[in-house]
Amino acid sequence: MKDDNFLRANNARHMWHPMGHPGEAMAHAPTIITGAEGSVIEDIDGHRTVDAVGGLWCVNLGYSNNAVKDAIAKQLYDLPYYSAFFGTSNPTAIEASYAVREFFAEDGMARVFFTSGGSDSVETCLRLARQYHRIKGEPGRTKFLSLKKGYHGTHFGGASVNGNNRFRVAYEPLMPGCFHLPSPYPFRNPFHETDPAKLAQNIAAAMEDEIEFQGAGSIAAFIMEPIQGAGGVIVPHETFMPLMREICDRHGILMIADEVITGFGRTGDWSGSRHWGVQPDMMSCAKGITSGYFPVGAALMSEAVADVFEKADADGAIFHGYTYSAHPVGAAAVTTCLEETLRLDTKANAGPRGMQLYEGCVALMEKYDIVGDVRGGHGLMTGIELVSDRAAKTPLDADSMKRVHKATYEAGAMVRIGGNNIMMSPPLVITESEVAQVLTALDAGLAAS
Ligand SMILES: Cc1ncc(COP(=O)(O)O)c(C=O)c1O
Repeated sequence: MKDDNFLRANNARHMWHPMGHPGEAMAHAPTIITGAEGSVIEDIDGHRTVDAVGGLWCVNLGYSNNAVKDAIAKQLYDLPYYSAFFGTSNPTAIEASYAVREFFAEDGMARVFFTSGGSDSVETCLRLARQYHRIKGEPGRTKFLSLKKGYHGTHFGGASVNGNNRFRVAYEPLMPGCFHLPSPYPFRNPFHETDPAKLAQNIAAAMEDEIEFQGAGSIAAFIMEPIQGAGGVIVPHETFMPLMREICDRHGILMIADEVITGFGRTGDWSGSRHWGVQPDMMSCAKGITSGYFPVGAALMSEAVADVFEKADADGAIFHGYTYSAHPVGAAAVTTCLEETLRLDTKANAGPRGMQLYEGCVALMEKYDIVGDVRGGHGLMTGIELVSDRAAKTPLDADSMKRVHKATYEAGAMVRIGGNNIMMSPPLVITESEVAQVLTALDAGLAAS
């Protein structure tokens, strides 16, 4: 490894970073993270902070899980790669498919298709949803419904069902046939409805209206995150997802739960769907499936969906997949990560620590007028929406957001900024005192706005 001077001199010079302006990264070089332990990260200057981002909503086991590291290292020597395209498989992939199926059995998931990440998993679900209807003799079911504020990755399919315009406008025109319903976001919505239960009813009515307008026979699937993550941690009312499930059922529309963030314990349950008592038809997963230690994702199908493919004639063949689908090293990471997730029962910590973080942020709302809304309380996903005028809900400007971020970091916590939201998704193994440190750092950050 080159020395620190080399790293500083070449930081963001040759590499474009996701989700930002390359020129700005050159002018204000990104923080170089050099090491991590437990839930704490360390930068190139030796500054240590609690990682309230969990890498990127993914390092559920924290940074020190040697079982997963050892499994990855061992597999690199046993078989570093072999293709899983039709005709060949590998031992760790077979084992991982069993483990993932078991993990989501209670959600009604029966088959898994491995991918390299969340966007790939979403893409797989969208494509297989269309194929499912085609096999069933309804090739006209090609459209997709989704929610505003939803995030479903950056492939053209996922971006098309995405509900945040900053991920869309530069890349338009996106895929035709994608229609968006209002988000279950009581702080801002077109109905001016602050009661989450009533808002859920309004969105259900809007969905019925859209289905009638489009024609149910033209819609393949509805995709939603059980709790919207990147959109700012938007927690729907408990009736919302069951309502959507019932509408999908009534109209023959597949429900895809995008569990890329909410899967594997983040909500305090093993899946976001289970958190709301819903069984989807398909699930997209990634992140916590390997705790971010190796890039893996998965698309999952219910028994009923799988049946349609498996019993079909030639139309059931899946002409979709990735070079790294069922990668043996990734698969070894999956099996061990799930074993560790269950052994540590990470969901049991996510519930109370998530509540501590949420309640601490609610207390900060009383102290700082710039805190317009605090969302969370369902596991370790917390969002704080900052405003310059609470009554008018005016979003706080970007420079102030950057100041809050910097001061929070300097005071001991890494948080994530998205628009005028602060978003937090720390490792599920975070301790009570580390959550307290995040809250103290946020206090300092908000004071610096
Ligand atoms: C709900 C959801 N879906 C899909 C994705 C895309 O995953 P990836 O970045 O691994 O492609 C993300 C990423 O944050 C996500 O939060």
